[in-house]
Amino acid sequence: MDMSISEVRSVAVLTGAGVSAESGVPTFRGPGGLWHNHRPEDLATPHAFHRDPRLVWEWYDWRRGLIGACQPNAAHHTLTAMESHWDDFVLVTQNVDGLHRLAGSRTVVELHGNLWRMRCTRGCHRAWEDRSVPLTDIPPRCPECGALARPDVVWFGESLPEEALLAALAAARRCQLMLVVGTSALVQPAASLPLAALQSGAYVVEINPQPTPLSDRVHEALREPAAVALPRWWRNWTAEGNR
Ligand code: APR
Repeated sequence: MDMSISEVRSVAVLTGAGVSAESGVPTFRGPGGLWHNHRPEDLATPHAFHRDPRLVWEWYDWRRGLIGACQPNAAHHTLTAMESHWDDFVLVTQNVDGLHRLAGSRTVVELHGNLWRMRCTRGCHRAWEDRSVPLTDIPPRCPECGALARPDVVWFGESLPEEALLAALAAARRCQLMLVVGTSALVQPAASLPLAALQSGAYVVEINPQPTPLSDRVHEALREPAAVALPRWWRNWTAEGNR
């Protein structure tokens, strides 16, 4: 490792479904992944929601039930511990499961939204948190205007929340260290964040049991589950840093 902890002033982290796999949250493309058993075009597009909002909400109700029973794992907790080590630490996640916040992370940028939030589909643009499991009404409605509510997540074919994307890009470009944990690095624009960090000279570490399109570009690739590799990596780094 040719960078010491004392040289780092800002850190960015990009996580994907793999960071929550050991908590029991299914990934999308791995073995038993959601997209093996369901067609994204039937459940995670504006068109699918328009065609059959009940079907889409039944699927989100199932996912909320499953995720509601999951707890953050050692990888989530390690990222929370790392956060307090730097003034400039940004945790960018593609996950909608809310487990980083549940673990106590404060600087979370949710690129793809959060499935514990809903928003109105009509003019009032209201968004609110709803953690009821199971949902009381399917489909749920806006408490303000009674219009159909939708999950406050980003579906295929939709653009990301601009503020979140700009914050993520800025963090990637200014960091000296980037950790990329549990993502297949296939979905844009999130998959470009590590490339932006590399281009800015950052030291990039990938944690994933499987190789990804990013693996040849990173400085370190740990081919192990996140809840094993990340706590150990952090312990070694802090131990080395205190030598
Ligand atoms: N620890 C670390 N990585 C893991 C673990 C684990 N325990 N288990 C699986 N992985 C890795 C897999 O090898 C895979 O590369 O996590 C990755 C999960 O990839 P995807 O299922 O493609 O999930 P992700 O990269 O987050 O998908 C991006 O695609 O479907 C959309 O909006 C959805 O946010 C999602 C986006």
